[in-house]
Amino acid sequence: MARALVCVCALICAAAAASVPPIGTQPEQVHISYPGVKNSMVVTWSTSNRTESVVEYSLWGDALFRKKAKGNYTVFTDGGTEKRTSYIHRVTLTDLRHGSAYVYHCGSDDGWSDVFYLTSLNESLSFGPRFALYGDMGNENPQSLSRLQKETQIGMYDAVLHIGDFAYDMHEDNGRIGDEFMKQIESIAAYVPYMTCPGNHESAYNFSQYRYRFSMPGHTENLWYSWNIGPAHIISFSTEVYFYLEYGLDLLFRQYEWLKKDLEEANRPEQRAERPWIITMAHRPMYCSDDDRDDCTRFQSYVRRGRNDTTPIAPGLEDLFYKYGVDLELWAHEHTYERLWPVYDYKVYNGSFEEPYVNPKAPVHIITGSAGCREKHDAFIPKPRSWSAFRSTDYGYTRMHLINSTHLYLEQVSDDQYGKVIDDIMLVKETHGPDAWL
Ligand SMILES: [Fe+2]
Repeated sequence: MARALVCVCALICAAAAASVPPIGTQPEQVHISYPGVKNSMVVTWSTSNRTESVVEYSLWGDALFRKKAKGNYTVFTDGGTEKRTSYIHRVTLTDLRHGSAYVYHCGSDDGWSDVFYLTSLNESLSFGPRFALYGDMGNENPQSLSRLQKETQIGMYDAVLHIGDFAYDMHEDNGRIGDEFMKQIESIAAYVPYMTCPGNHESAYNFSQYRYRFSMPGHTENLWYSWNIGPAHIISFSTEVYFYLEYGLDLLFRQYEWLKKDLEEANRPEQRAERPWIITMAHRPMYCSDDDRDDCTRFQSYVRRGRNDTTPIAPGLEDLFYKYGVDLELWAHEHTYERLWPVYDYKVYNGSFEEPYVNPKAPVHIITGSAGCREKHDAFIPKPRSWSAFRSTDYGYTRMHLINSTHLYLEQVSDDQYGKVIDDIMLVKETHGPDAWL
């Protein structure tokens, strides 16, 4: 009898022990972003238990971790059935020497991350930053990931732009897919600013996974913001406000008013002289020639022309961007790569027949949504319209080099062809702003 009682007790104890989740004070999913304030960088990470939020860092070559910065955490509860909770830590480093390499780790006395390195933003207007840009990369089938990890670690990029659609999807399996994806990109995002915009795959629970996990400039929970780097003013915004009206039509109008104000400010003569390139990034394109009947395949696409089924009528963005002389518009969503001729209102405005991208008379669009995800490739319609200049269904991503105030270089890398550059252009603009269209 006594032996039987011991056995029952052991079983109960074992069951109780098995139901206790592991303690998670170890930092994971480390990533950095530029907060839009000079000499600063934000370090963001997650723990599943409550800890302090500390970054220890030092200039490359100095004794390790001579400096310490403290921040705080946000408690994030996923919207799924398990209501999983995690702690999203944010620490802003504010005293960085510009353009300098630092070594850092993050965490607390309850556990420290691996050691990473970052380079603070070079604040010079003559800085020529290099970017990797792509959208639509998932936890499963992330074809471009390993090449991007390696290229980041050997110093090919100063920043990465992820143009919406992460993980497929971050909320799935009660947020575990998001955790896993953030771990996958740590070997990129812990080293260079990982700048983002939301896509349709982030829509669950009112985009909460996206809003909580990232730390972009401004105070819009990463939905729309702008920042400056070298000779460029980069604007990130949400195309999803045109599609998920259940989360508030007011978001669409607030964003539109903000875009107008931001573009006005960026176009003040002294401002545009300093940062002549205005580049936008957002998820769903205004134009595309894929065969999937997405919004961009329609002449009256919401992003381009707005919506007339709302009260009041929602304005589109093509006229606004044209009016303020946006130079380059970066998009994703279509799981392909497509480069457009300079285009406005469905008409091509090349600089000249011989040199279409030298002093073009309309914005240039690039669609780069082929980084790789479980949904695989999209396909194109057989006969594209006149504004489509180059198309590829290869998995891959885009590199962008802002050489100086007049020259911007873009090239497309094919992962299917082992890193081969399959397309490239030099965009040359001797005049920026609306006067460039004359
Ligand atoms: Fe998408």
